[in-house]
Amino acid sequence: MIYAGNFKSNHTRKSTEYYLKALAQKLGAKQAEDKVYIFPPLTAIDHYEGDFTLGVQNAYPTHHGAFTGEIGLEQLDEFDIKTILLGHSERREHLGESQADISKKFAFFQDQDFEIVYCIGEPLAIREKGFEAVMQYLLAQFEGIDIGYENLIVAYEPIWAIGTGRSATVEEISSTHRALKKVLKHTPLLYGGSAKPSNIKEIKNIAGVDGVLVGSASLETESFLEMILS
Ligand code: 13P
Repeated sequence: MIYAGNFKSNHTRKSTEYYLKALAQKLGAKQAEDKVYIFPPLTAIDHYEGDFTLGVQNAYPTHHGAFTGEIGLEQLDEFDIKTILLGHSERREHLGESQADISKKFAFFQDQDFEIVYCIGEPLAIREKGFEAVMQYLLAQFEGIDIGYENLIVAYEPIWAIGTGRSATVEEISSTHRALKKVLKHTPLLYGGSAKPSNIKEIKNIAGVDGVLVGSASLETESFLEMILS
C-alpha cells in the first residue's frame, strides 16, 4: 500500500520537522512493502531522515529563470526532491491550471525522471450525471499525459469528497477504480477524499485500490500513523 500525505497550505517548517521526526520514529512498525510519501508546503522542504519520501505539491516546469513566485528544478535539486504531485483539483480549480498547463508540467518532470503522483477527479455535478459521464470526465484528464510512464502513480480524488468528511462509497470507489485500471493497467492507483482512520480499512480492502492520498487526516502524526499501521 501507498500512504501519501498532502499537507496543502498547512504546517510550517518547524511543525513539519517535528511531525516528520515523530513519524520516522514509528515507521519501523509498518509493513516493509508499504510506502509513505509526504508533501509538505514548499517552505518546509529539506533533507529529512526516515523511511518516507518527501515530495512537492507543485513546481514550475523550468530549470530556473524569470517566473516570479515559482520554483523550478534548481531549487528542488538542492534538497534532492524527485517526487511531485500534479493535477490536483485545487490547482485546477483555484489556481486556474488547465489540462494543457498540467501536461506541460508532466512532460517536463517526466523528462527529469521524477516520480509523479497525478491527480484526477470529477465535480459533484458530473457524478450526478452518472457513471458514463464520470469516466468521460476522468479520461479527459489523461489528455496530454503519458499514462505509460513507469514512474507514475495516479490518484483518483472525487472533488465532492475532498475536505468534506464524506468519502465516496465503497461501490463508487470500486467501480471507478475498476474502470480506471483497465486503462492504467499496472500503474498504482490511489484513492483520495476524506480518507481517515475510521474508513481506511474499508478503502484498503477495495480491489484496485493501491493506497490513499490523504489531506486532513494526514495533518496529525497520530492519525496518519493509525492509517499506515491499520
Ligand atoms: P482530504 O483528505 O482532506 O479530503 O483531502 C484529500 C486531498 O485532496 C488529498 O490530496
